[in-house]
Amino acid sequence: MGFRADVLRALEGALGADVAAAGDLDAALTTPPKIEMGDLAFPCFALAKVKKKAPPAIAAELAATIAPTGAIAKVQALGPFVNFHADPAKQLDDLCQRLVDGRFDAEARTDAPARVMIEFSQPNTHKLFHVGHLRNVVLGDALVRAFRARGHDVVAANYYGDFGIDVAKCLWWIRTRPEETVPVEHRIAWLGSCYVRATQLVAELEESDPETATTTKASIREVLRGMEEGDPEIRALYEETRQWCLDGFQAIYDQLDVRFDHDFFESQVEHEGQAIVDEQLAKGVFVESQGAIICDLTEEGLGACLVRKGDGASLYMTWDLALARRKFDDFDVERSMYVVGSEQRHHFQQLFATLARMGYERAKDCRHVAYELVMLPSGKMSSRKGTAIPLHVLWDTVRDAIRTRMESEGRDERAGWDATRWNETVERVVVACLKYGMLHVTNNRRVVFDVEAWTNPEGDTGAYLLYALARIAGIQRKAEGPVPTLADGVQDGGASEGEAFGHETERALLGHLLTWPDVLARMESTCEPAVVATFLFDATKLFSRFYAACPILKAPEPLRTARLQLVNATEAVLRRGFEVLGLPVVDAM
Ligand code: ARG
Repeated sequence: MGFRADVLRALEGALGADVAAAGDLDAALTTPPKIEMGDLAFPCFALAKVKKKAPPAIAAELAATIAPTGAIAKVQALGPFVNFHADPAKQLDDLCQRLVDGRFDAEARTDAPARVMIEFSQPNTHKLFHVGHLRNVVLGDALVRAFRARGHDVVAANYYGDFGIDVAKCLWWIRTRPEETVPVEHRIAWLGSCYVRATQLVAELEESDPETATTTKASIREVLRGMEEGDPEIRALYEETRQWCLDGFQAIYDQLDVRFDHDFFESQVEHEGQAIVDEQLAKGVFVESQGAIICDLTEEGLGACLVRKGDGASLYMTWDLALARRKFDDFDVERSMYVVGSEQRHHFQQLFATLARMGYERAKDCRHVAYELVMLPSGKMSSRKGTAIPLHVLWDTVRDAIRTRMESEGRDERAGWDATRWNETVERVVVACLKYGMLHVTNNRRVVFDVEAWTNPEGDTGAYLLYALARIAGIQRKAEGPVPTLADGVQDGGASEGEAFGHETERALLGHLLTWPDVLARMESTCEPAVVATFLFDATKLFSRFYAACPILKAPEPLRTARLQLVNATEAVLRRGFEVLGLPVVDAM
């Protein structure tokens, strides 16, 4: 805050008795539209009345009385504004110190830390884990990381869909087709195909042979009952296949470096949900309607919320009633966030309205964070039609593209890499490309998966960001002689004659790095990782401009030290952004 604090102090001094009329000085300061115009600007409009002068005249008067001190290098009147130019070397020195002593991160934290639960991923067992599920995982994980960086106490929660009629369909298919062999690899995908084939069969029978359709549906319901009531054979099959899925999901989370603090399961909240329905039915909050039980939300404009089916079975909504309460009761959270696709918007509106009807005050602390679908350039994916891409296929496609590209460019850094080093680096680039590809699109826009666009090392991609980090590490490696660490700061930005620190590209990069605390705050308030993705992409572009325009290692001292510190500070801030988005890092590529 060195420069800004100096500006405020200088303004207060120059304004003297008029300071009260000027209002909140800190809030009044703006950033000039062009960096050549200065780093901060003070508009003089509010002073026109007391001073009985036109704003440009006031600006000229103030500019003439303020002498450059501290981090202020130059003061200039520009129309109705007083523009302040920072001394870039002092500003950089200040940034280095704040990065080292923790003030920079402290500034990025909220004044109102809370205990927050973020529920995300929530895959269904016995169904394919596809590309769309990846968007949820990386979005939810980025929110967890961002909320933590902001100083909140976050409980990262998963909620597995491991129960219900869809699971029963899958098990029914397996039981009625004992001749099918279970694959050793990609068992989740196979279970998903059993579910899809059972669903398709029922749909076909409904067209061609309604009688068989009815008996088939009855035997699927039998399987569900077996699951519920503990039929040993069905239970055993259920437990085994469920575990395959949970193990498979865990492997995906490990690959993505995603961790949960707590796992909820639909199977766990089933009974509790039913109990809530009985309780609310007795209170008259829920009512019977055509044999089923509903919460009437006509007044809220949300129609009837079905909480129990006519046959007495509970459903997705029933379980969510129990889950919502558990989150507050068992975890003592102040806020509860649900990261779920926007196609479930109505479901969550109904859920929160129903909780409110139940008199549950915490309903107001629940929030649905919605996001759009993932598409292929050829259009929408559908699990049922078999056009959804399984995650492992996407992963392999991206890996092939990255490996081919990396192998085609001979780089000195990679000479002598063994297979382990190669594989590990490729894998990190793959994860960065997958996550960044999902995260740089705002939540309300569809993500289109396009392998070329996602892996282009010169495009808006994870690979491009990693190249920048690798290049920074390369500069630090290549430096002969003393390399300053951030703690050394910048004593001097350059000689009075000759080149000094403060080239336009240096100031632009520095100015951008300084916005990080605001960027993180904005990601929290909007729940948009794209805010941070854009920040990182811009930082990387600004770094490339600086690198192209300014020699670093060959610069004379003290300019060399200042430039190396700008490189160090860029690295430090980029790493914070990478951490928040959950992107892996590399030091060579
Ligand atoms: N498993 C569900 C699905 O795939 C999503 C669960 C979302 N969370 C919730 N509390 N309803 O549709």
